[in-house]
Amino acid sequence: MTVMAATGLYPTASLAGIAAGGEAWWQSAVGYQIYPASFADSNGDGIGDIPGIIGKLDYLAELGIGFIWLSPVYASPMVDNGYDISDYRAINPIFGTMADMDRLITQARARNIGIVMDLVVNHTSDQHPWFRAARADRQSPYRDYYIWREQPPAKGSPADIEASFGGSAWRRDPQSGDYYFHLFAPQQPDLNWTNPVLRAEVHAMMNWWLDKGISGFRMDVIDLIGKQPEAGIVADGPELHHYLREMHEATLAERDAVTVGEAWSATPANAPLYSAPERRELSMVFQFDHITQFWDEKLGKWKPKSIDWPKLKATFATWQAALHGKGWNSLFWGNHDLPRAVSRYGDEGEYRVASAKALATALHLMEGTPYIYQGEEIGMTNAGFTRIDQYRDVETLDFHRIQLADGVAEADFLAGARANSRDNARTPMQWSAAPAAGFTSGTPWIAVNANFPHLNVEQDRADPTGVFQHYQSLIALRREHAVIRHGQFRALLPDHPALFAYERKLGSECLLVVVNMSRQDAVIPSAGLPTVQGRDLLTGRAVSTKAGTTLEPYAAFAVWC
Ligand code: GLC
Ligand code: CA
Repeated sequence: MTVMAATGLYPTASLAGIAAGGEAWWQSAVGYQIYPASFADSNGDGIGDIPGIIGKLDYLAELGIGFIWLSPVYASPMVDNGYDISDYRAINPIFGTMADMDRLITQARARNIGIVMDLVVNHTSDQHPWFRAARADRQSPYRDYYIWREQPPAKGSPADIEASFGGSAWRRDPQSGDYYFHLFAPQQPDLNWTNPVLRAEVHAMMNWWLDKGISGFRMDVIDLIGKQPEAGIVADGPELHHYLREMHEATLAERDAVTVGEAWSATPANAPLYSAPERRELSMVFQFDHITQFWDEKLGKWKPKSIDWPKLKATFATWQAALHGKGWNSLFWGNHDLPRAVSRYGDEGEYRVASAKALATALHLMEGTPYIYQGEEIGMTNAGFTRIDQYRDVETLDFHRIQLADGVAEADFLAGARANSRDNARTPMQWSAAPAAGFTSGTPWIAVNANFPHLNVEQDRADPTGVFQHYQSLIALRREHAVIRHGQFRALLPDHPALFAYERKLGSECLLVVVNMSRQDAVIPSAGLPTVQGRDLLTGRAVSTKAGTTLEPYAAFAVWC
């Protein structure tokens, strides 16, 4: 296998290198997630595209990011906006051509930005030639690329599994009369990872992309590939880590790529299994404890709980301790499946800018690789949709149908969707006050947030105390200070309802981070924080942690201690 260009990007170390005490490039880099349909449209068809992304590379280079996590741009019927792939080696024409993709890789690299592709291999589209062949002929070698059963499972039996987008995970295929397994939409049949031929096929495809010069993969719902539906096991199956090690050996071993595994089931106890360097599986996990703990037990994301800061802080503290020296975590508030950070955790109104910066400070100064979701760097807010016909997301539309049939009131569902629908993060990027927020010269595929005339990149960047420049400073600080990348984390004031405070220590260096996560003034208590007076590393402002000092709503600082 050739050792490809992904290696040349940064002064780096492989997983084996880190195991031996070195540092990997992705431990000092910040990732930026692009949801291509909603980022920048170059040709006026209302859908963001790859040339649009290329046109914004200078913007991303100025922000200072190290890599782009690119949500899927592969050939796809777009039932789940590209998370249903019909050809892993082709680009969806709505996003551009393979030549555009190659240009994106080269031009990003010229700015020291790696491209991390979304690897969606838990399932394919039902339009993938493998699935077409599988359903057309029971004898096809592709039949066993998928998971079949002759009868639907008996109600309540282990195989009677519910799909993530609602309904049974088994769907009758009219062509063969058998039932195939799908954990997401019926148009997303699950691949059968117990088949070694399928696994080799995935490895070959990964090598094909890595040889093109991409810098790694974000692995979609990767904790599901070890599933054993007949035993009722969906996540974290017994063969999962065997498959990940095999994949590493076959694709990543001699390269310096980054791999980030989306794992909704990951726990502080099992996360090191994915990410401990000596295990040679993945670079890091992307887990959701801080998200799902505020979902309803029964209605899940459709009935969010309000944020309880002491609980949320405790979750971060647990994860900081669980992976320190044992693995590596991702740090994020949002992505394309989650609401906007300021809407969920901060303040959409008077304190929008302050809360966007406060959230960024609290997150970026912990240990792990931070991810910025497009628009977060200017403090974009939830979509504010009030009618079901404004939504485009398959999950939202499926659950709308299911929950209304179950007797949930329309207004209650819409309230949940307004808080937590995935479309909150999918409205077009707000570049300027021009029509359609400068995203497209045409009609956008999903409505632009009505607040774009005063909330957009141009306006935010014109403000020297805007959100963008704050992210720039945080990214630069991470590169500069090893204590931010590797320091030991200690939670401070854990029970305080508003103050998010912690200390990071590495050798003789000590960094203190204090953030007021509320709309009220907060007063520094008489005990629990080291007393320091100094300058905020981010703004240069004089700060003090003397007992009795008042912090304004969403005030945030980092100071040497
Ligand atoms: C992941 C993706 C999500 C997608 C699902 C199925 O959770 O982030 O957008 O719908 O997997 O691929
Ligand atoms: Ca377009």
